[in-house]
Amino acid sequence: MRSIKILSLMLLLTLFAQATLENTTCKKCHPVIFQEYQNSMHAKASVFKDPVHKAVWDKHPAKQKNNYKCAKCHTPSDHALMEGKSKLSDNAIQKSEPISCQQCHKIQSIEKHAKANKNIMSTKEKYFFSANKARKGEKVVFKEEKSLFGLMTKTTGSPYHDIDYSNENFYNGDMCMGCHAHKQNGKGFVVCDLEVKQKNSKETCISCHMPKMKGSLANQKESSTHAFHGVSMHNGTPETLSRYVKLSLEKTANGFTVAIKNEATHTLFPQPLRLNQLRVEIERDGKTTTLPAHNFVRVIGTDGKPSMPWLATEVLKDTTIKAHEARKINFDMRLKKGDVVTVRFGYYIANPKAAKKLDIEQKSATEFTVLTKKRFKI
Ligand code: HEC
Ligand code: HEC
Ligand code: HEC
Ligand code: HEC
Ligand code: HEC
Repeated sequence: MRSIKILSLMLLLTLFAQATLENTTCKKCHPVIFQEYQNSMHAKASVFKDPVHKAVWDKHPAKQKNNYKCAKCHTPSDHALMEGKSKLSDNAIQKSEPISCQQCHKIQSIEKHAKANKNIMSTKEKYFFSANKARKGEKVVFKEEKSLFGLMTKTTGSPYHDIDYSNENFYNGDMCMGCHAHKQNGKGFVVCDLEVKQKNSKETCISCHMPKMKGSLANQKESSTHAFHGVSMHNGTPETLSRYVKLSLEKTANGFTVAIKNEATHTLFPQPLRLNQLRVEIERDGKTTTLPAHNFVRVIGTDGKPSMPWLATEVLKDTTIKAHEARKINFDMRLKKGDVVTVRFGYYIANPKAAKKLDIEQKSATEFTVLTKKRFKI
């Protein structure tokens, strides 16, 4: 038993010694979650990994002063930068863990502000919050229990950290809201707002964006599933997210109506950079007709003209689909029996017009991506 204790002490010491990057430690015991996280936007939120964020930063007036205010939400794990001890630079944290595991798991509460909310972090070392309905309220401290005169050792919890299952913000999704709720620019204008309406939805930020996936949550613990950590809109998740946007079609006297039912608890594609589109195609007698696309956008600007987010003072147009809304779009083309109507609902990460102004060229941002599609046989 003693040698095992010494061994585990040595293991912990080596883990500690290598912990230049915070996540390196977590990786040892949570390899599945660590792997998923690498593909999440939270692992790529810096200007060194997200070309879209970089493009906007490059044009931002604060760049001249190298005052990277975006760090608060985009790279809070770069502690030296956050504490004002260094300027934005191409380092390992920026590249691989701008929003580290601990950055989320130490969020104790959210302080509400008009400009942007603020994450209040726990200051306890190796003390992480998590959610587990069956264990709600528990605070698990790692311990070894000896039985059979010390021959058998039973352990509970994680051998590296304590776990607190009592933080309500990890059950209702509020722990996401320090960064995601809304943001004002220097002129006090709301550039972006998710406009969350939780209403009676049983789904939360966490249940929709971090659904249970196959694979164990930790090496030392056999669990059949774990919460998905590859949180992103672009890679992989459109399939998981698309089920919350329902498409339906109804014939009318003069044509037909496509309804888009948003089951998300927030506005769809609220970012001013996005362009959300509905595309409809009709196949009839072997010929395909494409109807004009419908746009859903929030255009912001100054003096009646679109402008960059830091200059904007007004909303010029807002046709985005709000939380729980069912939007109906009418088409005045009469359908015939045998027609096949294909409806695609998707998005451009960067509205092609904005992409041009910002010199964004990479395809993933400037090509139309389908979030959900459906075929209707008439
Ligand atoms: C030495 C192994 C080890 C290391 C290192 C480790 N963990 Fe864990 N962790 C575990 C084990 C084992 C559990 C499961 C404990 C249980 O369910 O009782 C766990 C559970 C968790 C949970 C809660 C899981 C739940 O049931 O909801 C979180 C959150 C967590 N770890 C985060 C982290 C983070 C963040 C790091 C890196 C800073 C980390 N862990 C490092 C072994 C480890
Ligand atoms: C209050 C927190 C917060 C601050 C401060 C912040 N952002 Fe963000 N930003 C976010 C969040 C959250 C997202 C993701 C939202 C989404 O995708 O809907 C985001 C997304 C973006 C995107 C879209 C990225 C993409 O891949 O599509 C750009 C561009 C961006 N931010 C630029 C900036 C710049 C430039 C700054 C600093 C001048 C900044 N942000 C400051 C929270 C913030
Ligand atoms: C019922 C499921 C559901 C819930 C609950 C939900 N979302 Fe979403 N979320 C979606 C869907 C579907 C999309 C894809 C459409 C889109 O990008 O707007 C999405 C997209 C997003 C995006 C990307 C938006 C963009 O255009 O960049 C962010 C950020 C996001 N959600 C954050 C949250 C947060 C934070 C919460 C909790 C307040 C939350 N979501 C709750 C379904 C959900
Ligand atoms: C964006 C915030 C965020 C980041 C970043 C994050 N987590 Fe989590 N994590 C959560 C939330 C929220 C839950 C609770 C999920 C639930 O209720 O099912 C969770 C759950 C977990 C669990 C328990 C899984 C389960 O199925 O119950 C472990 C273990 C964990 N995280 C480890 C990690 C590790 C390791 C990293 C870094 C590689 C990490 N987390 C990064 C927010 C985050
Ligand atoms: C520390 C701040 C922070 C926290 C906490 C946080 N996020 Fe994020 N999140 C961001 C930033 C910043 C981005 C944008 C990264 C980019 O595009 O450059 C982002 C991106 C996203 C995206 C992808 C949007 C896209 O363009 O693909 C989704 C979805 C998302 N977050 C959901 C969540 C959910 C759900 C939670 C809570 C479990 C959460 N986030 C917690 C800062 C945060």
